[in-house]
Amino acid sequence: MAIIGIVAVDCNLAIGKGGKLPWHYSADMKFFKETTIGNAVVMGRRTWLTLKGPLPDRQNIVLSRDQNLANESLIAMSNVESVLDFARQQEGHLFVIGGAKVYESFLPHIQRWIVTEVPLAVEGADTFMPANFLDGFELYELRQLDQGLRVKFYERKLQNREP
Ligand SMILES: NC(=O)c1ccc[n+]([C@@H]2O[C@H](COP(=O)([O-])OP(=O)(O)OC[C@H]3O[C@@H](n4cnc5c(N)ncnc54)[C@H](OP(=O)(O)O)[C@@H]3O)[C@@H](O)[C@H]2O)c1
Repeated sequence: MAIIGIVAVDCNLAIGKGGKLPWHYSADMKFFKETTIGNAVVMGRRTWLTLKGPLPDRQNIVLSRDQNLANESLIAMSNVESVLDFARQQEGHLFVIGGAKVYESFLPHIQRWIVTEVPLAVEGADTFMPANFLDGFELYELRQLDQGLRVKFYERKLQNREP
């Protein structure tokens, strides 16, 4: 089981505006689906609110202090440790899918980052990745998607890994 952060950022590391994703790239949506399918995904309550429902064929986990969100297709958890304990018992990977609060909460535990670079500088963006989120990581793969999108794959450097 690996803990993998997956995010799309603009040129200024913006990821959101007005509680929404400030772009729509079908090539990235397809890539996101293919990459995460069959695994567990964890998201923050605000990101959950942007979805029409649980992401199909994935174990959906929402991080929130409000445990009433849970239903038969959604697990709600109130802290990072509970999510990690749960994920360790699963066969697949745990994908951390945002937003900013959740990326920040999982930062010390993330082993790999998958970062789509969106060729935009979004005006009025209000949600950003922490500036240092890739500190201690190294690039190991680069893939070109359609629509001018580049995906970069990073792995935590050996000396920065948890024992
Ligand atoms: N570009 C991308 O790849 C991408 C991906 C995902 C989201 N986004 C964007 O990011 C924005 C949302 O991000 P956000 O930072 O505002 O919200 P968020 O991280 O989605 O959700 C924040 C909420 O999650 C819960 N939470 C987070 N960390 C927690 C912790 N350690 N323990 C317990 N609960 C925790 C809290 O819920 P409670 O208040 O209920 O306790 C908190 O208010 C939206 O604009 C969205 O579209 C972009």
